[in-house]
Amino acid sequence: MAVSRGSTDVPVAELTSAQAERELETLARAIAGHDKAYYEKDAPVIGDAEYDGLRRRNQAIEARFPALVRPDSPAQRIGAPPAAGFAKVAHARPMLSLGNAMDEADIREFFDGVRRFLKELQKDPALPIETVAEPKIDGLSISLRYEDGRFVLGATRGDGRTGEDVTANLRTVADIPDTIPGDAPRTLEVRGEIYMTRDDFARLNARQEDAGEKTFANPRNAAAGSLRQKDAAVTQARPLRFFAYAWGEVGGPVADTQWGFLGRLKDWGFPVDPLARLCAGVDDVLAHYGDVDRRRHGLPYDIDGMVYKINRLDWQERLGSVSRRPRWAIAHKFAAERARTVLKRIAVQVGRTGALTPVAELEPVTVGGVVVSRATLHNEDEIARKDIREGDTVIVQRAGDVIPQIVEVVADGRPPESRPFLFPDTCPECGSRALREEGGVVRRCTGGLVCPAQATERLKHFVSRDAFDLEGLGGRHIEAFRKDGLVTTPADIFRLEEKGGAIAGREGWGERSAANLFAAIAAKRTIALERFIYALGIRQVGRATARLLAKQYASLMAWRAAMDAARDADSEAYGDLVNIDGIGPLVAGEIIAFFSEPHNRAVLDDLAGQLTVENFAAPAAASPISGKTVVLTGTLDSMTRGEAKARAEALGAKVAGSVSKKTDYVVVGADAGSKAKKAAEIGVTMLSEAEWLELIG
Ligand code: IVH
Repeated sequence: MAVSRGSTDVPVAELTSAQAERELETLARAIAGHDKAYYEKDAPVIGDAEYDGLRRRNQAIEARFPALVRPDSPAQRIGAPPAAGFAKVAHARPMLSLGNAMDEADIREFFDGVRRFLKELQKDPALPIETVAEPKIDGLSISLRYEDGRFVLGATRGDGRTGEDVTANLRTVADIPDTIPGDAPRTLEVRGEIYMTRDDFARLNARQEDAGEKTFANPRNAAAGSLRQKDAAVTQARPLRFFAYAWGEVGGPVADTQWGFLGRLKDWGFPVDPLARLCAGVDDVLAHYGDVDRRRHGLPYDIDGMVYKINRLDWQERLGSVSRRPRWAIAHKFAAERARTVLKRIAVQVGRTGALTPVAELEPVTVGGVVVSRATLHNEDEIARKDIREGDTVIVQRAGDVIPQIVEVVADGRPPESRPFLFPDTCPECGSRALREEGGVVRRCTGGLVCPAQATERLKHFVSRDAFDLEGLGGRHIEAFRKDGLVTTPADIFRLEEKGGAIAGREGWGERSAANLFAAIAAKRTIALERFIYALGIRQVGRATARLLAKQYASLMAWRAAMDAARDADSEAYGDLVNIDGIGPLVAGEIIAFFSEPHNRAVLDDLAGQLTVENFAAPAAASPISGKTVVLTGTLDSMTRGEAKARAEALGAKVAGSVSKKTDYVVVGADAGSKAKKAAEIGVTMLSEAEWLELIG
C-alpha cells in the first residue's frame, strides 16, 4: 500500500483555513495508513520520528483550527492501533531517571561529588552549592508538549526514550493548562508527575467496589490505571492531578536556575509542589528533608522521598548525566516501611548465571501500602547469620522500588519444632552440583546449558526492558514456550511467527494477541548495538559496559573480530579492550570467555541471520573529536578530570586510560608524568590545555 507523507511545509501559523482543512484530511488518511502499516502489516514505511512529526503537526493544526477537527481525527482515535495500545512517541530529549540515596552519608557524598567535578567549587570549598529540594511525588511521570502556547502532545515516560501518546486523556486533567502565556518558549515540553490524592483514591476504590469493578492497591496504581484508559471519558471521571518540576525540549532558555524555573511554571499556570524549597547547601537540604519526613503522613498525597537538584542550570548542564541519570540531581528516599509477618517457606531460585538465590515466601502483609508476599534473602551466609528459618515470625521492610527484605527474626515467634535452614548443594532445577566460588558468597549451579532454569532466565534477560524490550513476551510466556520447546534459544523468538498456529491456539492466546506479539517481535528485528550486547547477558556486562563496548567497536562484526583476536593476551586487540576506561581484566576475561564458547558462537550466528544490528551512532558527529581516542593526563586548570572526561565523551570521543598508537590526542595538564613522555616517544599529538579548549570549543 502506498502511504503518502501527508504533510506540507507551510508553518501552521500561516495556513489558511482552506489549506488547513485539506491538510487535516490528508493527515488523517496518512496517519491511519501508517498505523495500519505499522500495527497490522508490520511493515512501517516511515520512521518513528517522522511519524510523531505527522501526529504533532495534525495536533498543532487542530489546536489552531478547532472547528475543523474531523470526526476521524487521528487525535480522537484514542488507542487507535488495535489492542497494541497507544501510539508511540519518541521523546525529543530523553526522560531521565534518578540515582537513589538512602541515607545522609549518600547525600553528603553526592554533594562532595559535585564539588569534585566542578573546578570552581573544588578550588573554593566555601562556595555554597545552592540546591532545590522538592518532594518526590509517588505517581507517574509525563511530558507535555506546548507549541505556540497550546498543549499539543502528552506522553508517558515509557522507557525514557519512547513513551505513549496519552494526549486525549491528559486533556481531561484539570491541573494541565490547555494554553499558556506568550512569554513561554514557542516550543516547550513541561515534565512532571500525574498522581492521585489519598482521599480521591479511597473514594474511587469505594466507587469501584460498589460497581463490582476492580479496585487499586494504592494511589499510584490508581493514577497509572486511570491514565492508560482507551476511552478518555473514563479518565475524565477519575480525579487525576499534576505537579510540574522539569522540562524536556525547549525552543529557548527557561530560566537561569531551577528555582527560577519553578517560579515561571507557576506563572504559566502549572501546579508546583508547595513544599519545594531553595536550600543553601547540604545541611539545609537535610534539615528540610527531616521536616518533610515528619509531616509527610499528614500530606494529602503520597511522596516517597525528596529530590535534590543543583540550582544553577549552567552547572546542571556541565554536570551532565551518566547512564541516563543526571549528575546534578539525586533522590533521597524516606526510611523503609516495616511490618511483621510469618515466613512460610524458603524457596531457592536459579538465576541466569546459575546463582542460587534464596527467596522468602511470606504470609501476605501490607507494607507501606503494597501487599508483600516474597522477600529476598540474598545468600546462604545471610540466612545463617540471621538464623532465619521456615515458620519464623519476621520483620520485612520495603523501600521504594527496592525488593522487600527480611530485617530480623522476631525472638519469641519461633515454633518449637523449627530447624536451621539447610542450603542445598545441588541445583533445585537440574540436580547438578552447586558450588561456591572461592572467597565468594554465591553458590552456583554447574549445569550450564543443561539447566533449564538458567536457559529460561537468559531468555527472560534477552527480552527484558533494557535489552530487546519485548513487553508482550513476559516471564511466564517465556517459561511456557520454553517448556513446550517453542523457544529454546534467543533466535527462536524470531521464528515464533512461523509457528503461528501453535501460539494462537494456546491457552490465554488468540489470533489477535498472537498477531500483536508477532508485530512486536518483528519491530525488534532491527536493534541498536548496545542493546544487543547487553541482551547477550555476558557476566559483568551491564548496560554501561555494553555501551562502552558499542562505542569502542561501533559494529557487531568489528566487535566480534576484536574479541576473537583478544583471546591472545599479548595481542593489540586485548590491549585495546582493557584500555577502555571502565573495563578491566576481570570484565575483559568474561567477554573473551563468552566468545570462546562454541555454543555462544552458534547463538550469535543464528541471531545474525534473524536480525539487523545497527552500528553505534556516535552522538554529536559534527564535533572535531568525535570518534577520536583521547587520553587526559596531569591537572587541568579550568576543569576537573571528571568534567573533562564527560565533555570529551559527550562530544563523541573515547577516553582511554593509557597512551598507545591508537591514541589521537593526549591532553597534557600541569605535572603530567609518564603518559606525556610516552606520547612524545611514539609521536602522538599532544595538546596543551588551551589548545584542547580551543579544539572542543
Ligand atoms: S526529576 C532528571 N523531580 O522520580 C530529572 N522526578 O526516580 C528526573 N519524580 O521518573 C526527574 N517527583 O517520575 C523529579 N520532584 C521530582 C519528582 C520526580 C517524582 C519521579 C519521576 C522520575 C522518578 C525518578
